[in-house]
Amino acid sequence: MGKFWILRWIIVVGIMSWYVEGLGVNWGTQATHKLPPDAVVQMLKDNGIQKVKLFDADDSTMSALAGTNFEVMVAIPNNQLAAMTDYDRAKQWVRKNVTRYNFNGGVNIKYVAVGNEPFLKSYNNSFLNITLPALQNIQNALNEANLGDTVKATVPLNADVYESPVDNPVPSAGRFRADIGDLMTQIVQFLNKNGAPFTVNIYPFLSLYGNDDFPFNYAFFDGVTNPINDNGIQYTNVFDANFDTLVSALTSVGLGNMPILVGEVGWPTDGDKNANVGNALRFYNGLLPRLAANKGTPRRPGYIEVYLFGLIDEDAKSVAPGNFERHWGIFRYDGQPKFPMDLSGQNQNKLLIGAKNVKYLPQQWCMFNPDAKDLSKLADNINYACTFGDCTSLGYGSSCNSLDANGNASYAFNMYYQVQNQDDMACNFQGLAKITNQNLSQGSCNFIIQIAPSSSSSLRSSLVACVFITLSVILFL
Ligand SMILES: *[C@@H]1O[C@H](CO)[C@@H](O)[C@H](O)[C@H]1NC(C)=O
Ligand SMILES: *[C@@H]1O[C@H](CO)[C@@H](O)[C@H](O)[C@H]1NC(C)=O
Ligand SMILES: *[C@@H]1O[C@H](CO)[C@@H](O)[C@H](O)[C@H]1NC(C)=O
Ligand SMILES: *[C@@H]1O[C@H](CO)[C@@H](O)[C@H](O)[C@H]1NC(C)=O
Ligand SMILES: *[C@@H]1O[C@H](CO)[C@@H](O)[C@H](O)[C@H]1NC(C)=O
Repeated sequence: MGKFWILRWIIVVGIMSWYVEGLGVNWGTQATHKLPPDAVVQMLKDNGIQKVKLFDADDSTMSALAGTNFEVMVAIPNNQLAAMTDYDRAKQWVRKNVTRYNFNGGVNIKYVAVGNEPFLKSYNNSFLNITLPALQNIQNALNEANLGDTVKATVPLNADVYESPVDNPVPSAGRFRADIGDLMTQIVQFLNKNGAPFTVNIYPFLSLYGNDDFPFNYAFFDGVTNPINDNGIQYTNVFDANFDTLVSALTSVGLGNMPILVGEVGWPTDGDKNANVGNALRFYNGLLPRLAANKGTPRRPGYIEVYLFGLIDEDAKSVAPGNFERHWGIFRYDGQPKFPMDLSGQNQNKLLIGAKNVKYLPQQWCMFNPDAKDLSKLADNINYACTFGDCTSLGYGSSCNSLDANGNASYAFNMYYQVQNQDDMACNFQGLAKITNQNLSQGSCNFIIQIAPSSSSSLRSSLVACVFITLSVILFL
């Protein structure tokens, strides 16, 4: 018995020390071709990831998570916030999307994200008046369902809800943005009353993006020559500085000890001159060991709960923020790892374990037909292809930027053809295109083959139904 216990203890401790404590990932699904949720869940397990943050509470995702031990953050998208200002509607949401999964063998829901960065300036204050009521209603509904002790509602906020004054740009001077100061105070007081964390998304990449004056090395974790001196504390990276600006903002409203959760942090690998595998590697090689060592920040040493953004590339995300938006994944669109990474934070970089048994469409591509005579409609056709297919790798500084004009056309045509599941009709473009079985990839530019569309969603719903029928039978017996 005794020996057995020790053995088990060694195994458990061994497994636990293998990974950054409680590292989470964001599992977004804005893709034209989604991997089957079961394959994604297996991939998470294979890589020792224990927490996932979702952007909705989709049935198929939730049933793939059922019976696992993942800690899950489900979410209410911004476009449903207005509805949640009605308490009965909020109760319905909680019943359908939280309570329903709250059984042994269900889903271990820990948080409900109410909205996603609702106070971004680009939303023109559309969600300013409804976010707090929605948050209150959801948490109150959770409390009323007796789930309030284990499930906390929070609002993932963008880091520009707080700032330091221009004339004193140091973390210790952090305050909530003046235009939303009262609102932020009410929100953090409500979170605090319910024991919920403050959730913030921190993006050193965005500090660099479109800001050539930003000191490049400050976006990473391996030191700078001119640290920011904040009353004797040296800041050598923008992540720490940003996080501690929030700590100061919370302190300024009397809640300096409030738990902070980093809802998103990561680095994209394409779609901008700074978005590439080399920089992503450098960023994660700095971030992960710090998390593993529970280093924390100067003002908050210790463990930080962190969710990487993101898990898988999403080729249907809006590119309004920039072309890099579709390239945040630590895995490619098909669940294969992009670069070596060590989630244990020991910098023993090897490729993560990819999704298994991925089914692809046949090995064929769509290309520009070099024999085409009338090129007058070429630009229009490329434009059309890129409206429905993802051409974000063609831009300046991106992986396919060095293609010639014909290569550009082929790339665009192929992306469209793959999105359309290689439908013959989707490789015509007024006679400008033709199908080929030659792999057109060259250099860093990958001409992809899409994954076969999955037919799992209908199957999943019936499985869910099955689980619930079984469950009710068990409960009633
Ligand atoms: C539950 O969540 C799903 C997915 O996010 C959403 O479409 C649905 O409206 C929610 N259900 C209710 C009753 O609000
Ligand atoms: C915000 O306002 C600008 C300018 O008035 C407009 O172009 C943009 O579409 C608006 N965005 C949203 C999300 O309403
Ligand atoms: C929010 O509410 C305030 C006060 O009720 C009002 O003045 C403001 O116009 C509202 N803002 C939006 C964007 O609806
Ligand atoms: C290919 O397309 C990209 C993005 O539209 C453009 O920047 C580049 O100049 C094009 N290259 C050629 C040779 O046309
Ligand atoms: C096409 O070639 C590229 C580069 O050689 C390679 O990485 C990729 O796997 C190939 N694609 C397929 C579908 O074989």
